[in-house]
Amino acid sequence: MMTSCITEQPETLASAHVPAELYDGLGARHATISPKFLYDALGSKLFEAICELPEYYPTRTEAAIFARHGAEMARVIGLGSTLIDLGAGNCAKAASLFPLLRPSQYVAVDISVEFLHDALNRLRQRFPHIAMEALGLDFSSGLELPNNVRAEKRLFFYPGSSLGNFTPPEARAFLRRLRRNCGPDGGLLIGIDLVKDKAVMDAAYDDALGVTAAFNLNVLRHVNGLLDADFDIRGWRHVGFYNEAMGRVEMHLEAKTPQRVRWPGGGRDFAAGERIHTENSYKYRQADAMSLLETAGFEATRVWTDPHCPFAVIHAQAAN
Ligand code: AVI
Repeated sequence: MMTSCITEQPETLASAHVPAELYDGLGARHATISPKFLYDALGSKLFEAICELPEYYPTRTEAAIFARHGAEMARVIGLGSTLIDLGAGNCAKAASLFPLLRPSQYVAVDISVEFLHDALNRLRQRFPHIAMEALGLDFSSGLELPNNVRAEKRLFFYPGSSLGNFTPPEARAFLRRLRRNCGPDGGLLIGIDLVKDKAVMDAAYDDALGVTAAFNLNVLRHVNGLLDADFDIRGWRHVGFYNEAMGRVEMHLEAKTPQRVRWPGGGRDFAAGERIHTENSYKYRQADAMSLLETAGFEATRVWTDPHCPFAVIHAQAAN
């Protein structure tokens, strides 16, 4: 069956707030939906549930590395940094390092600033001596830090292997932006997932309970709301697997049967088996992660790994 597609964007008030990339992605020959649309309120809760799954190794592996090597990290990094937490969410990961790192200022950055205010109010009571700021910012596309962020000893904190959700060129551009913003005495503490047994990665992104499937399918529900579209969620299945040739885990949604989707002013027909690509999660070899950091203007000072599961927490300093 031929795929038919109408890509005009309707000139309605509602559509004024719909990012053009959503129409562009759905209209592309190989349809895509940007992974950022995975994270509406329900999607964020489903992602939290993924982090609890036995198959999803990154969260607990990284937590084990912080628990085991946190004191040494603090010795390498030094006390009194300006800790800038990118994608802070509930701020829990960074807060677990406060007693060791003793930052002078904590800057929590996330798209959702309301969420941050609640988390910071709680943290201020526990750590009254640390100055705290909340910044509502989509840092994936730009990073303008306001003047109330201290310029000294900036330490960007980017855990969770979120770097893997960028393509390698995007990741390099992102790291270069961090380098430009961290000054000569700044650095980066980053968690990066490493290539491992394919079966382990396949299971992590296609778990037995179907939580990752629900997380992926929920993007259609979110898009229905944003576009006033009529995706029938029951007509789609989750596909998640490690693509060895591309060095990345891919998530797709696959039409179980022919699907006709409409939104005001447009729509698209999908053939049975046709896919919408929703996410990439690149997995690095340690040496490649190091050279990525180097080409972005950082110099790795230490790498901490887990003895059982390949995952790296890297501290890198601004190179001059
Ligand atoms: C947020 N990010 C690092 C997760 C990952 O592993 O790429 C998102 C995710 N997608 C499916 N499971 C988890």
